[in-house]
Amino acid sequence: MSSTNRGTQRNADDYYVTPHWLIEDFLAAFSENCRFNFDEQTYPRILDPSAGGCEQYPMSYPTVLEKHGFTIVDSWDIREDSRALIRGCDFLKTNPTPNYHDVIITNPPFNVAQAFTEHALEMVPNGGLVIMLQRLNWLGSQKRKPMWQNLPLAAVYVHSKRPGFDPQKPSKTDSTEYAHFVFCKGYELAPELFVI
Ligand SMILES: C[S@@+](CC[C@H](N)C(=O)[O-])C[C@H]1O[C@@H](n2cnc3c(N)ncnc32)[C@H](O)[C@@H]1O
Repeated sequence: MSSTNRGTQRNADDYYVTPHWLIEDFLAAFSENCRFNFDEQTYPRILDPSAGGCEQYPMSYPTVLEKHGFTIVDSWDIREDSRALIRGCDFLKTNPTPNYHDVIITNPPFNVAQAFTEHALEMVPNGGLVIMLQRLNWLGSQKRKPMWQNLPLAAVYVHSKRPGFDPQKPSKTDSTEYAHFVFCKGYELAPELFVI
């Protein structure tokens, strides 16, 4: 997702490239969180269901996660020209294989972020994680109030540095702030807030 150009022209299939430093910053902060102990032993099987990548650029989340020692990182994407292991796959039309993936993490297409989150939560086991990169103001709006009353939000990692989503223009940042939203299936405590 990128909020720049929203309401005007957007990339086909909402394809944007998440900068690796943003994922690195999140992982550095998240791995310090003792509630989740985010490592390969605790969470061995990861899925990025809208993994992106193209001829020019690698898939952001799988690339960074593999660098951090996660060996089973599945990747799906709806675009045939993505670099995902499974291409032409509409995540929202997949029949979830329950309890296979321990973590589902992505920067989802903007318009279906809530549906992606709900679908992903159906797939992970109790205690499994769903992590979505979204605009910080995803937390707002009357339309989304019921969603926040229902979804098991466990933590919000606010990125104080604005990212850009066009690798050809690395100095051009987006028009709003972003956060990694961490959901944990079955979580009942109040969510934690971190500014990174
Ligand atoms: C905002 S881009 C993010 C790409 C990559 N996750 C990243 O962070 O760099 C969203 C991606 O979702 C894919 N996509 C859009 N709709 C999809 C769907 N229904 N199922 C699976 N992938 C989808 C697009 O092709 C695109 O690669």
